[in-house]
Amino acid sequence: MKRSSLRRLAVTALMLSVASAHAWADGDPKAGEALFAKTCGGCHKIGRYAQAAFAPQLNGIFGRLAGSTSGYVYSSAMKASGITWQRDTLIAFIKDPTDVVPGTNMHFWGISDAQKLDDLLAWLQANQDVK
Ligand code: HEC
Repeated sequence: MKRSSLRRLAVTALMLSVASAHAWADGDPKAGEALFAKTCGGCHKIGRYAQAAFAPQLNGIFGRLAGSTSGYVYSSAMKASGITWQRDTLIAFIKDPTDVVPGTNMHFWGISDAQKLDDLLAWLQANQDVK
């Protein structure tokens, strides 16, 4: 094999690994923070000392059973959903809340842009251990 084609192969392999890394990589938490402030922050609090407001606080959301924080009165639909919040359930819910939890009180038009979802989840992740 010629040197140049070897180099091309190496570049292709690198690009492939970057592309597949992206499929797994979390988004950009900074972008997610801004997006959260704009789209979720009117109802939800997150970060240090976050408390239930119009909606439940979202610290430590990964692995949380839906409808289980104290200090917030959930819809019976949310409490009965039996969902554990993980990457896939969060994405589905943020895309279309009423589709995932029919009867939920979260009246939100949904976000379906993959990059925005990645960024948002990165921000949720960044607050996983914040109390
Ligand atoms: C208009 C207000 C509003 C907006 C905007 C909103 N939510 Fe909600 N959200 C709620 C309410 C109210 C609930 C509780 C729903 C219930 O009890 O059925 C909720 C519940 C949730 C839950 C379940 C929490 C738990 O403890 O089980 C998650 C996760 C969530 N929202 C994420 C988000 C994210 C992320 C955004 C922004 C993309 C967002 N929400 C935007 C009002 C909102």
